[in-house]
Amino acid sequence: MFGGFFKMITTRYYGDFGGSYIPEILVATFDQLTKAFEDARNDPAFWEEYVDLMSTYSCRPTPLTFAENLTAHFGGPRIYIKREDLNHTGAHKANNVMGQGLLVKRMGKTRVIAETGAGQHGVATATMAAKFGFECTVYMGEVDMERQRPNVFWMERLGARVIPVRDGTRILKDAINEALRDWATNMDNTHYVLGTACGAHPFPEMVAYFQSIIGKEARGQVLEKEGKLPTRVYACVGGGSNALGIFSGFFDDPVELVGVEAGGKGLETGLHASRLASRDGSPGVAQGYRTYFLQDSDGQMKETHSVAAGLDYVGVSPILASLKEEGRVRFESATDYEVLDAFSLTLLKEGLIPALESAHAFVQAFKESPDMTGDDVIIINQSGRGDKDIFTIADAFADPEWRKFIIEKAKKYNA
Ligand SMILES: Cc1ncc(COP(=O)(O)O)c(C=O)c1O
Repeated sequence: MFGGFFKMITTRYYGDFGGSYIPEILVATFDQLTKAFEDARNDPAFWEEYVDLMSTYSCRPTPLTFAENLTAHFGGPRIYIKREDLNHTGAHKANNVMGQGLLVKRMGKTRVIAETGAGQHGVATATMAAKFGFECTVYMGEVDMERQRPNVFWMERLGARVIPVRDGTRILKDAINEALRDWATNMDNTHYVLGTACGAHPFPEMVAYFQSIIGKEARGQVLEKEGKLPTRVYACVGGGSNALGIFSGFFDDPVELVGVEAGGKGLETGLHASRLASRDGSPGVAQGYRTYFLQDSDGQMKETHSVAAGLDYVGVSPILASLKEEGRVRFESATDYEVLDAFSLTLLKEGLIPALESAHAFVQAFKESPDMTGDDVIIINQSGRGDKDIFTIADAFADPEWRKFIIEKAKKYNA
C-alpha cells in the first residue's frame, strides 16, 4: 500500500536501510510517536517502570537455562537457552507490547490496533489492551486465522475484535497493510502496535529498544554463570525483534551473532522466507521502510512459506539488513524438516517445548555444536513456547492419533 504519494519526515536510516516512507496523512502521528518514544527513552523512570511492569506481570527476568543433556549429547559447547517462552502469553512479544502500552498511556490514546501472523503478537496486544483498558482491534490474514484458530479464540475472549484480511495472499504482510489503513483513518485516538522491528521509523528502533531487555539480562546471566562471554548467540529471525533483543546485549563484545531465517521447503524451491540468508532477497521500499524484501524484478512481493507462521514474512528489520551488510550478524536458514528434528531433540533431551519459530535457532546451533569445544559457550534464544501451537505442530508431525482425535471431536460438534 501507499505506493503513490508519500512524504519523508524526520527519520532514521541504518546504513542504506530504514527510513519513513509514509503517506502525508500519517506524518503528524509518526512525529507524535517519535517524540513520545524519545521523551520516554530519555526518562530513566520510564525504563524502571517498564522493568517493574515486566517483572510483576511477565516473569522477568526470564531464566538462562543450562541445557545439560544437549551439551552432553553434542559433546561440544556448553549450551544455554534464554527462556523468553516463560513470558506471560508465551513469547518475547510481551516485551514489546507492554512497553508500547506504557507509551500509549503517556500519549493519552484509548484504542490500539495490531497486525498478527502467528497470532502471538495479537494475543499479546489483546492482553495488554485488557490490562490497560484500551479498545483493541487485530488484523489477521485469513490463512493465518485458519492455522492459528486457538490464538483467535483467545484474542476474542480477551475482548479484541479480530478482523480477517482477505486481500493478497491473506497472510502477515496483508494484515500490516490493513492495519495501516485503519491507522490512517483513526489516528486521533488510535496507536498501531507494530509487532516487530520493521516498518517506518521509529518502529524498528522502538521495538528493538523494548526487546533489548532480553540481551541485557542474558549478558549479565551468562557472565554470572560462566564468568565469560558466549562464543555465539543464536536467534530465529522473522521481522527480527527477538534476534535484535538478544543480540543487542552483545553488540560491543567479541561474540558471533547468528540469525536464522525460515528455509521452508528448501532455498532451492523458492518456498521459504529467507530474505538475508538466501540470494532471493533484494533491497526495496514497501510498508513504510527500506530493507531486503523477497520480491520479483517488478517489485511485486513474492509468496513466502514456513512451517512457522511467525517467520513467514517478506521483509526483515532494516537494522538487521544493515548488520548483515556490515558483517556483524551472520544469517543462515533452517528448513521445515530440520526444524521438526531439532524441535523433537529439544523435547526429548531437555523437556523444553520451543515454538516452531524458535526451533529454527536450535537447528543452526545444533549443526555448529559438533565443531565447537567445551571451552565454548553458546546461547540459543527460545523466543516462545510451542505447547500452545499444538494444532500446527501435530499437523507438522502428521500425528495419526491427533488426526483421529480431531475427526472424532468434529463429529461430536456435528452431532
Ligand atoms: C515465538 C515467536 N518467535 C519468533 C517470532 C518472529 O518474530 P521476530 O523475528 O520479530 O522475533 C514470532 C512471531 O510471531 C513468534 O511468535
